[in-house]
Amino acid sequence: MSHPKTFRIAPSILSADFARLGQEVSQVEAAGADFIHFDVMDNHYVPNLTIGPMVCKAIRPHVKIPIDVHLMVSPVDALVVDFAKAGADLITFHPEASPHVDRTLQLIKDQGCKAGIVLNPGTPIEHMDWVMDKLDIVLLMSVNPGFGGQSFIASTLPKLQAVRRKIDHHMADGGQSILLEVDGGVKVDNIAQVANAGADTFVAGSAVFGAPDADGGYRGVMSKFRSALAAS
Ligand code: DX5
Ligand code: ZN
Repeated sequence: MSHPKTFRIAPSILSADFARLGQEVSQVEAAGADFIHFDVMDNHYVPNLTIGPMVCKAIRPHVKIPIDVHLMVSPVDALVVDFAKAGADLITFHPEASPHVDRTLQLIKDQGCKAGIVLNPGTPIEHMDWVMDKLDIVLLMSVNPGFGGQSFIASTLPKLQAVRRKIDHHMADGGQSILLEVDGGVKVDNIAQVANAGADTFVAGSAVFGAPDADGGYRGVMSKFRSALAAS
């Protein structure tokens, strides 16, 4: 299958050492990360509690690359404004968590950030249909949101192909380009398959931050990802 040539890797700091987050993000940037993926969980939309805008603001000076904020929260809108002020570059949210999806996308764009929706494994891709012109990115979950270190759900591969087709049709009709990012269970041994199904942007948490020093640490895993993608 044909796929875009530019691949982006977005390490998820959910699996980083929170006691030394500044160093962690600057080390993954030095290892070749394209985005910092920032998972926000509220113990309401998802059964886990993580980090908010203050932590985003604290890491912002430690990296030059974009911060890709994945909001797993409900309600959404107030946090959009807070994260934009805290230095977020991209902001994605789950359409089930916002009663007015078009309004939330516009709010993100009005703050000067790239905007996108996140599709859970069980969420229909038709959520994209009437907001295509406002999407800079679609984040397709390949695990159920809430935790790092889960296994990739295989049924999301044909779904990923279907999202790719929708985006390709939109672009062929003169629409803007839309990144297609996959999140959950991405590893060195499946990233090529995920790329072949149509993803161009890859979140990896445990695979990056859990990479053993003996295998070259963050640089080692990033170069294995790049080689697997180059061969895909
Ligand atoms: C899950 C998060 C993911 C997670 C990915 O709710 O959205 O970004 O950190 O972690 P891994 O790569 O370990 O599956
Ligand atoms: Zn995420």
